[in-house]
Amino acid sequence: MEKFIVHGPCKLKGTVKISGAKNAAVAILPATLLAEGKCHLENVPDISDIRSYCKILEALGAKIEYLSKNEMIIDNTNVTSAIASSELTSKFRASYYLLGALLGRFNQVQISLPGGCNLGARPIDQHIKAFESLGATVEVRNGNVYASRKEPLHGNSIFLDVVSVGATMNAILAATLAKGNTVIENAAKEPHIVDLANFLNSMGAKIKGAGTDTIRITGVEKLRQVSSYSIIPDQIETGTFMVAAAATKGDVLIQNCIPKHMEPITAKLIEAGATVEELGDSIRVTMDQIPNSFTVKTMPYPGFPTDMQPQICILLTIASGTGMVIENIWESRFQYTDELTKMGADISAHGSTAIVKGVEKLYAAPVHSHDLRAGAAMMIAGLIAEGDTEVYDIHHILRGYEDIVEKFNKLGAHIEYVKEDDKHD
Ligand code: EPU
Repeated sequence: MEKFIVHGPCKLKGTVKISGAKNAAVAILPATLLAEGKCHLENVPDISDIRSYCKILEALGAKIEYLSKNEMIIDNTNVTSAIASSELTSKFRASYYLLGALLGRFNQVQISLPGGCNLGARPIDQHIKAFESLGATVEVRNGNVYASRKEPLHGNSIFLDVVSVGATMNAILAATLAKGNTVIENAAKEPHIVDLANFLNSMGAKIKGAGTDTIRITGVEKLRQVSSYSIIPDQIETGTFMVAAAATKGDVLIQNCIPKHMEPITAKLIEAGATVEELGDSIRVTMDQIPNSFTVKTMPYPGFPTDMQPQICILLTIASGTGMVIENIWESRFQYTDELTKMGADISAHGSTAIVKGVEKLYAAPVHSHDLRAGAAMMIAGLIAEGDTEVYDIHHILRGYEDIVEKFNKLGAHIEYVKEDDKHD
């Protein structure tokens, strides 16, 4: 069994470099399927979700040359299969991007129903609506999604009933090679959507308006190879280090990030009493007081990201007064609060709201990572707690954070990765 032991408390101090964005990379990797020739990608995060995606692409016939830890050339010329129905595909959410990408290239596509973090119901009705609007037929049976088309997809108007990152990405992927014009209304505006559109445009796609709620796509016949594309920095990894700096009353310079993407998190940290300085592509976070309490509501971008909700909640556990967390995206994102209670936090979570009364200290306890971001929150809680916090189910954390132990330890934390009896830093 794997676990992290976080020896607390500590003050984080120093410099950390942010990796490429997971949620951009998991769309861009399948997007390479639409191109003829090779795609050279840089700043690809070295995380288990990406390693799984590479295996899926290789099983479909892709040839991947790894130039370094974060750089690869993907050649999809010999991809002849559009059946991605495996244990691997069903394990993580972003495998659903294979549907949009493969439908651009093949008449019949089959993938296993996507898995991923357990955050409550994760329907794909809006993805299906988008594919059907473009002329595909979609069926879900026996744990698989089957999508087919009798002729090339055709452009259309797609109004998404809910603002969905995944459905917006999939609609873009499927519409890129469709005949004619597509308009996606009520589109999600997250930075990773803009990155996907920029990547496809660098291959010759005609996508306008990504980052607004109306995206217009003029279908093109084919995409060309990309000599080099660098994935944007990870907004949520940046936010995780920003919160960790503030929670530990530290002083951290976070490099290789995009401060504009961080505005909702920066605003909350300032409300909590931290100092946040934007320095080009870096952010410095310092904190020298007990955090003020605050209310935070998760919203689609540019609102406060749901994927930062568990981490920012750690600040409230040690804040002066009572704060509130309102979750508007996922119905089961408060499972981690039971773990924090074991550490002495005073939280009551019901439905979409958690009330958090600040306490003087958290104390170490064995805790579980219920999902990726909850796991990161457990690590931050361990950094501020008295004693040695054991964090279990760390495979969730390793799905999305590159070198997380090394990065925290370089900032002065003392975290051990332990596998069975075999202990090493
Ligand atoms: N929704 C529907 N129907 C759909 C699709 C979504 O009702 O067809 C609903 C969902 O139930 C949810 C809301 O719409 O209530 C938003 O879901 P969205 O589709 O935006 O989420 P997603 O694409 O499945 C991505 C990220 C998540 C992140 C959400 C919200 C990836 C691979 N995943 O998921 O990231 O929480 O957007 O920002 O991009 C993470 O990285 O830890 C993570 C969970």
